[in-house]
Order: sequence, then C-alpha cells, then structure tokens
Amino acid sequence: MTAYPTRRLRRLRTTPALRRLVAEHDLTPRRLILPIFVKEGIAEPQPIASMPGVSQHPLDGVAGLVEEAVAAGIGGIMLFGVPTTRDARGSGATDPDGILNRAIAAAAEAAAGRITVQADLCLDEFTDHGHCGVLAADGSVDNDATLEIYARMAVAQARAGADILGLSGMMDGQVAACRAALDADGRTDVVILAYSAKYASAFYGPFRDAVESTLTGDRRTYQLDAANAREGVEEALADIDEGADIVMVKPAGTSLDVLARVSDVSSVPVWAYQVSGEYALIEHAGAAGLIDRDRAVGESLVAIRRAGGEAILTYWAIEVAGWLRAGKDLT
Ligand code: PBG
Repeated sequence: MTAYPTRRLRRLRTTPALRRLVAEHDLTPRRLILPIFVKEGIAEPQPIASMPGVSQHPLDGVAGLVEEAVAAGIGGIMLFGVPTTRDARGSGATDPDGILNRAIAAAAEAAAGRITVQADLCLDEFTDHGHCGVLAADGSVDNDATLEIYARMAVAQARAGADILGLSGMMDGQVAACRAALDADGRTDVVILAYSAKYASAFYGPFRDAVESTLTGDRRTYQLDAANAREGVEEALADIDEGADIVMVKPAGTSLDVLARVSDVSSVPVWAYQVSGEYALIEHAGAAGLIDRDRAVGESLVAIRRAGGEAILTYWAIEVAGWLRAGKDLT
C-alpha cells in the first residue's frame, strides 16, 4: 500500500483560473504613485541615462503629466525639483519661485483635486554640497539648524498647493517641526508622509543622476544602516508619535522585512518606495535579455504589497496602472 500525501498544496495551483482566484495579494492603480523630476530651465524632456524610460521634465510639462496620471487612475504624483543654482543653505527650497514650489503650484492647479500632489521635502537637491541638511562649522550635518529650514520649506510647499509632504531628510524631529509650522500657518489639512525608515543605500545611485546631485561622500550619519531592522521600526514609531499621517520604508526591495514589521505595528498607513536602483536593475537586466522584464516588474511590486506596502512609489506607476486596467496579472 503506497502512502499518499494527505495534504496536496499543489491542488490550488492547478489551473490559471484557480491561481487567480486564490491569490492573496494584488495591486490596483490607486496604490501606485509616480515620482516626477522637474528641471528648471529646460524646454523639452531630457532622458535620464541611468534610468531608461525616465526623463527630467520642464515646468510646462507638469500639467500634461498630471493629466496622464489622472487618466491612469494612480493615487498621486511625487514631485522632485532640479534647480539650476544651489547654495550652502538650499535657499531654492524655501523660495516660492524655486523650481519645486513652482512645479507644485502647476501640478495643484492642473490636478484640481482629482489626484494627490506630493512633494519631496528635503534639501539635497538645493544645497551645493548635496547633503539633506545644512552643515555645521565642522562639516557635519546640523540637525536642529536644518529643522528650522524644513519648517519653512513645509509652509512654502503647502502654500504652493501640495496635499502631501514627503519628509525624506532623516533629521531627528523633522515631523514635529514641520507639523508645528504647518499648523501655525493654518495648514492643518496638509498630510505628512514621513520617510521613516530610510536606509543609506547604494540603490539611490541612478536618482543622484536624475537630480544631478553634487554629493561627495555619503549620508550614513543620518540615514539608517542596512544592518538594522529594529531601528527602522523605532524610527516609524517615533514619527507616528510626532504626528506623521503616513510612514514609509525605503528602499522597498531590500527592506521587505522592515516593511512587514512596521506594517504589523503601525497605527497609520505604511507606504514603500521602489527606488531608482531597483528600477534600473530590472530595466537593464530586461534589456539584456537576462530576465522577463514585465514579469520582474510585476513580481517586484506584488512582493512589496505582500510585505505590507499599502501604496508604492514606483517609476513604473503609469505603465503598471495600464496593465492593471487591461486585466493583466502581475504574477
Ligand atoms: C532625498 C531623496 C533621495 C531619494 C528620494 N528622496 C535620495 C537620497 O536620499 O540620497 C531616492 C529615490 C530613488 O533612488 O529613487 N531627497
């Protein structure tokens, strides 16, 4: 008498129809957010060499991108500014005429409430040294002096019309400082998205190209060490305490465990950022014929969703939203 398996877990994998029915996780366009780079002083989109398929856009292209995003049904756009001049204190970030604030205003006008307009709140695109904060006399990044500038930046972005501010600078106390400044300016409805667990990562490489970063050295004195998971959870809890409305884990693909742990304990929505390096790896490997590009894109995104990401910033947002509308399975 042959002993048969009493449990046959393969049974539910037998046909495509069954697999589709029992899939635990999937995505919808509303969960996707498109990062957009807006560069001062250009007339046409400029392709970013390290990110095939992604461009820097001129200010007057913003309205068209908003229409595309609305038509795609995605949840929002995240704006980054690329200024033509930078200084030690990142003055362009707080100037209402700075490229990012102008891009926010253009996007908010075009969106007219149909889609969320989000903005990166950080100094690295605006400082001539490329750090996310201002420097002390000894060259270190001065946490508290930076908070004062972030607070003014938050008010400038809110006044320009941003719905959600993405605090990506990893300064201690940045959520509390921005919340207090927004409230004092009567901007009590502006949402704070805290990049809580943001790891010092090699996977931001192509992004540095996209924003023409001037950074030499690294951000290890303020961004998290990839060796630490508990500390990532602690950062998220601290940000929730300070008043964050949403917390984020980043990069997504190398932090799925942190994403899952934050998702287990968070009392607010948890988002994830699939960063430039994750994008570039799949694009280049796909172009080289090493992997099935579309399947790798879908698998990488569903894995982030599975780990707990409720919304995902991804450079594939528009394309993948199109796949989803067409009924294409991601896995
Ligand atoms: C900081 C910021 C970075 C990214 C988003 N916001 C760069 C960094 O911290 O060095 C990276 C995003 C990506 O790689 O796609 N303003």
